[in-house]
Amino acid sequence: MALQIGDIAPDFTQDSTVGPIHFHEWLGDGWGILFSHPKDFTPVCTTELGAVARLKPEFDKRHCKVLALSVDDVPSHRSWTGDIEDTQKVTMNFPILADPDRKVASLYGMIHPKANDTLTVRSVFFIDPKKKIRAMLTYPASTGRNFAEILRVLDSLQLTDHHQVATPADWTDGKDCVIVPSLSDDDAKAKFPKGWKALRPYLRMTPQPNR
Ligand code: BEZ
Repeated sequence: MALQIGDIAPDFTQDSTVGPIHFHEWLGDGWGILFSHPKDFTPVCTTELGAVARLKPEFDKRHCKVLALSVDDVPSHRSWTGDIEDTQKVTMNFPILADPDRKVASLYGMIHPKANDTLTVRSVFFIDPKKKIRAMLTYPASTGRNFAEILRVLDSLQLTDHHQVATPADWTDGKDCVIVPSLSDDDAKAKFPKGWKALRPYLRMTPQPNR
């Protein structure tokens, strides 16, 4: 059965550009993002890995480790890393998992046979400190991901955990949030001293609590 939000992210041990990774141990007690790439030495993937390397300080700020996966082996990843660094003008600063036996790709359902029998699609798994899958994205090989959106989703998940707010359409950091419907007005009074605007009883907008 396909993985779903709320499932524990499957654990694995697999080789990578920084040596074998025991996934749960490697995640430690922070957040993690596992994201797949169809293949080494492909143009869109090259730009994506460069984009993530540039944004790594932003992931660090959010206590989130990033781990790329491509079905090729470590020597191939090492050689591709040179191309990524040359063409994207970055230093690679996070590991690429080797998955030539498709062990991890199969565990996470990253191969969609109607798209391609052997290569992964562009999957993203957001994993929380309890190792729970909190969000997933899936794009085809031809569409490079927007990593600002991936940071935005991470911010939303972390806000919900810490402040009992949800984030509305097109929310970005600093904009008003939504008080979760499970919180009564009485409980909300204590929790949101800046108050809220009730557009409907179920639609209560409040300034972002941590700003
Ligand atoms: C790419 O990363 O550019 C790519 C990979 C597989 C199919 C199409 C594009």
